[in-house]
Amino acid sequence: MKRRKFLIGSGVAVAGASALWTMDQYGLAGNQGNPYLQGNFAPVKDQVLTDQLKVVGEIPKELSGLYLRNGPNPMTSPNHKKYHWFSGEGMLHGVRIEEGKALWYRNTRVQLDGSSPNTHVISHADKIYAIVEAGGRPVEIDQQLNSLASEPFHGTLRTGFSAHPKLDSTSGQMHAICYDYANDLDNVHHVTVASDGRIKAAQAIPLPSRSMVHECAITKNYVLVLDLSILFSFYMLGRGYFPFSWSDEHQARIGLLNRHDGSDEIKWFDIDPCYVFHTVNAYEDDQGNVILDAMRYQRLFDNDWNGPFSEEPSLLTRWVLNVRQGTASEQQLDDMPTEFPRIHPELVGQFNRYGYCLGVGAELKPDFGRIIKYDLVNQRSDIAELGAEKMAGEPVFIPAASQQSEDEGYLMTYLYDRSLDKSDLVIYNAQELRSGPIAEIKLPQRVPFGFHGSWVAG
Ligand SMILES: [Fe+2]
Repeated sequence: MKRRKFLIGSGVAVAGASALWTMDQYGLAGNQGNPYLQGNFAPVKDQVLTDQLKVVGEIPKELSGLYLRNGPNPMTSPNHKKYHWFSGEGMLHGVRIEEGKALWYRNTRVQLDGSSPNTHVISHADKIYAIVEAGGRPVEIDQQLNSLASEPFHGTLRTGFSAHPKLDSTSGQMHAICYDYANDLDNVHHVTVASDGRIKAAQAIPLPSRSMVHECAITKNYVLVLDLSILFSFYMLGRGYFPFSWSDEHQARIGLLNRHDGSDEIKWFDIDPCYVFHTVNAYEDDQGNVILDAMRYQRLFDNDWNGPFSEEPSLLTRWVLNVRQGTASEQQLDDMPTEFPRIHPELVGQFNRYGYCLGVGAELKPDFGRIIKYDLVNQRSDIAELGAEKMAGEPVFIPAASQQSEDEGYLMTYLYDRSLDKSDLVIYNAQELRSGPIAEIKLPQRVPFGFHGSWVAG
């Protein structure tokens, strides 16, 4: 457990330390096949429901809700050479908690008419959806994790959707940048979901690069369009691989689209080549600059088309877009590889002091081995090292009921114990991360490394 100063002084992003970052360090390399099908990346085949859950420690009494997480879980045997981590069918793992008691754990496949979104699971306007990008239809999920036959967004969705819509807590609207290159090679769509859960607008935005737009960000006035260095590839598609790869030719850029006026005009800011799966947050400062914090890859999907972890680490980076001058500056904020960032859910698009993420690799302790809390104002981080045998996932922040400060609340994540080959749902006090979990809910099986999830209160 440690606390560290994380800001590095040069103000210039540096190339990632790729030498520190190989599959050998994960213990996953070798001739036995695709690393994303081995260890705790491997799928589980059983769908389990149990109400016999042992708890070590104490779950806060104020917590009532459902913790849900989605991830890839191929049910048949994929081609090891061509399988990409992002392509397995979706499986949900959920734990129901009521007034501090863990009532049940369940895992279910996401399945509806051949659609199996695998990336995220969100709640909005009293509905829960499993979601994915690239044209996959969102699937509504009930409180028991069953896939429902209902049409997503009350039947109003006419385009693809995204795995990362951004909820503006002040308006209740969700914004997403959505691509579906199989059906529209020339455009992405800015989709706005109204607070009543119906699509309010789906605005076509020409994007000739056909870049992989995994996420967006919002501010008070803008939606940020990330047109970065990974592009759709017919070459890869034709050979049966994941159809996106790195491009040195494409000018990476961040676009600002006015969120309110319905115009499709975008103000573009050129940036150095990079890729970003996940933004921490974006907001506007007092001068009208747009601040974007995100996990930046120096290079990706250039010679490994199975997953993101073997080429370059992802590093917390800040871009400042000077809207008046039309310029962008970039600063790497930390040299510790991190991914899966989350913040206070009500601060999306507004100033945030804290960010929470998963440490995904370091020289001596690679592999999802720490949970990191960033204080972006004081430029410090708190780090909970998990120990040699334990590996976590995305830490979801849940605000305390009577919150006095931004970080008063809890972090929840699944934690895999390699020595037992099982997982726990762990809960941390977000203000005392380094004290370790306040509760560990022992699950009957392991939860494979997956992607994203949500706390659905109530
Ligand atoms: Fe993601």
